[in-house]
Amino acid sequence: MKIRNCLCILVLVCICAACGRPDVKVSVNSIVPHPASIQLKDSGAFLLDRSAAIVSGGNGTENSEKFLRDYLQKHYGIAPKSKGKKRIELRIEENPQAVEGAYALEVLPGKVTITGYNEPGLFYGVQTFIQLLPVGEMQGASVARTGEGAAAQDSVGAAAAMPVGKKGEPLGIPCVRVEDAPAFGYRGMHLDVARHFMPVEFVKRYIDYLAMHKMNYFHWHLTDDQGWRIESRKHPRLNEVGSYRDATIIGIYPGTGIDSTRYGGYYRMEELKEVVEYAAQRYITIVPEIDLPGHCMAVLATYPHFGTEDNAGVKTATTWGIFNKLNNVLAPSDEVFAFLEDVFNELMDIFPGKYIHIGADECAHKWWKNSPKTQAFMKSHNLEDEDALQRYFAERVSDVVKQRGRIPVGWDELVGHGLPDGVTVMVWRGRSNWMKAADMGHEIIMTPSTMNYLNRQQRPDETRLAHRGRPLTLDIVYNQDPVPDSLSVSQQKMIIGGQGCMWTEYFHTPEDVEYAIFPRLSAAAEVFWTKEDLKDYGRFVEGLPDMFARYELWGVEPCYYIFEEKPAVPGS
Ligand code: ACM
Repeated sequence: MKIRNCLCILVLVCICAACGRPDVKVSVNSIVPHPASIQLKDSGAFLLDRSAAIVSGGNGTENSEKFLRDYLQKHYGIAPKSKGKKRIELRIEENPQAVEGAYALEVLPGKVTITGYNEPGLFYGVQTFIQLLPVGEMQGASVARTGEGAAAQDSVGAAAAMPVGKKGEPLGIPCVRVEDAPAFGYRGMHLDVARHFMPVEFVKRYIDYLAMHKMNYFHWHLTDDQGWRIESRKHPRLNEVGSYRDATIIGIYPGTGIDSTRYGGYYRMEELKEVVEYAAQRYITIVPEIDLPGHCMAVLATYPHFGTEDNAGVKTATTWGIFNKLNNVLAPSDEVFAFLEDVFNELMDIFPGKYIHIGADECAHKWWKNSPKTQAFMKSHNLEDEDALQRYFAERVSDVVKQRGRIPVGWDELVGHGLPDGVTVMVWRGRSNWMKAADMGHEIIMTPSTMNYLNRQQRPDETRLAHRGRPLTLDIVYNQDPVPDSLSVSQQKMIIGGQGCMWTEYFHTPEDVEYAIFPRLSAAAEVFWTKEDLKDYGRFVEGLPDMFARYELWGVEPCYYIFEEKPAVPGS
């Protein structure tokens, strides 16, 4: 849909200056993900100014209150008091029948009440409230105030554009009632920090983006051929050698050459713990991944004898790919399994979440086939073929994970090679394999690359963001149904949600990542939160101008491809 069309039907709520209140506006369509039920009151607004208070009773409201106060201070320069008649009340009414994340929000002229039916629910109610705050307006958005959509809802006049941003100004929030709960229990985003290392400060910002979209899992891809990014106290050599590489491909896909600059880094234990805590305060569980038995060149660079050829001279990878041509596969041995036990235990010491990702994707079996020592191991362990060996790897590592009461997660290749009990399957390829896993009673997390790999171009003629594979436009992300009707009811029940993935081969900086994920992360968030029958791409697009203004408020430069050109923001 062209921007002009979508602006013409933009649904805006305008609360005019007639009664001495500031002119503010917000589009309820820009509440993303869209709530289960939203009733816009005919008139009235809550005025958030210096006389307003945030009141909360404690007992689980602290994280939500802190997030709201920090957001209001940072983006609006407003610091509500802790007591007062005109108030935003935060409360938790534990309801065991309610799904995790359920909440209600009521905005009345004198009072806002945000009720979580559990702790995460309150946090999500706060996120919805935040999305009712006025944001700066993209040029042209005011045109839509006189459009059909505006008339259909509660449009009070065609007010002039008022860029928000003068810190400390009172904020008008329309009177609404929202009742909401997520469609799926797993709503996630992934980030690959092996191909390009992302600083802790950015990882926290990324977590904020997830939180503000009511996502609850952050899949952190921490190891790969190109670098090992977690401190290991037991195996410090991993960080001396495997956390660094000698060169990197220059530019975007397919690259314009290769530099000769040493590149790398890793997160210290204290930093990892800090990120875990930061995420927990936002009701986000981190799913850390150590990828094996393929994608292990950083390990083989550190410990050459862990490979199928003892002295293959493997280095931490400097290029991208699956490496059928370069050997990146661990060979089975007691020493390798002891090493894996160590690093997974170190990982679980830091990450308390229930899911631990054990990789298992893209392991080229030919290295095992051609390796006498691997074949000898297989024979001595009665492993009839390489599929059986891959299953053996998965079982050994899964056992370590399960011994600590956690749930192993693996990429869907696991299904083809044999699935250990109790493993959750993360689906990135075609469907035949994982349907089998669902039939066997395994939980499924959907991230099919054709709909969820946000590193793909946002449109075919994209020049800043380029990657192998077909472009992945916003509508494709939005219109996916994680639970296709064609599945049997018992298969559908095994799908616990999905996630977007952000692989960083051609994304060198945090700004590159932000450009790639926005606005598609917003679409993915709606896919995993909003029930399928309430999704509406037209409505989602109508809310985008405000959503883009919100990105701007956060300091993000998104990809503007949905618009014909980057809309200017008044005053910027
Ligand atoms: C993957 O994209 N190799 C999981």
